[in-house]
Amino acid sequence: MHIRKKKWARPELEACPFYEPAGEWRRGRWREAFARPERPLQLEMGCGKGVSTAQMVAANPEINYVVVDISPDVLGDTRRNLVRACGETPENVFILLADICLIDHYFDREDGPERIHISFCNPWTERPKHEKRRLTHPRQLIQYRKMLQPGGEIWFKTDDDSLYADSLVYFDLCGFEPVFQTGDLRASGFQPNYVSEHEQKYMALGVPIKFGIFRMTDREPSFDPTRFRMTPGLRRLAVLPDLGGKPDASVENSGDFREIPAC
Ligand SMILES: C[S@@+](CC[C@H](N)C(=O)[O-])C[C@H]1O[C@@H](n2cnc3c(N)ncnc32)[C@H](O)[C@@H]1O
Repeated sequence: MHIRKKKWARPELEACPFYEPAGEWRRGRWREAFARPERPLQLEMGCGKGVSTAQMVAANPEINYVVVDISPDVLGDTRRNLVRACGETPENVFILLADICLIDHYFDREDGPERIHISFCNPWTERPKHEKRRLTHPRQLIQYRKMLQPGGEIWFKTDDDSLYADSLVYFDLCGFEPVFQTGDLRASGFQPNYVSEHEQKYMALGVPIKFGIFRMTDREPSFDPTRFRMTPGLRRLAVLPDLGGKPDASVENSGDFREIPAC
């Protein structure tokens, strides 16, 4: 994705009291950063311009948020959207500039987020060797496990069938169980749903949005995530059931793989 350079973004971010450009020092101490440290903490990975982020933060003043992206140009828009929705100095949000591939340098179990949001992350479907860049790849899920509180959840949505199908496998392998899934978020009527910039775009094109909530279980992954690669051409059987948005719908959890036609 090409990101246009914005001259105003960095100066505005540098003057912003809720912007954190070098957050490693806060690892394990994020709660202290907030006016109300006792409140639950949630993270958003790859917040983009923050269109849905701003709605979510404004609608939930009793929750503390850290929203993360790698691009200062994009985060300039996030700041503006947050200020528009929540005022100049919102008490319940920090914008963190970071590479999510290294997210365990920024958070640990002491931070204990109850939820991680991942919306429309780049699908990286063109080359199998790029799959490891996905924000739902096992390399990432194992890092999220190290910081989430017990029973913590990942809320994941995407327009991309292939990314969603692969991510169901990743969640299963990494000890996350589905507690809600739908192949068409809008039709399911699930709430709350804060519609992001990418979601608006795909909904306008009539593309159904895939969404799931995955809860961390005690089942520890027993493989090396840095070596994990989905064998090209192989996809798990029945990973994209039409669950009709029913809560607690289960997906097949056998862990075996079968060759089926590529999506
Ligand atoms: C396709 S956009 C989606 C933005 C937003 N969540 C939405 O739904 O509109 C993906 C975002 O993830 C960010 N991103 C991708 N890889 C990242 C990484 N390794 N670390 C931090 N941010 C990343 C990109 O900069 C981009 O803003």
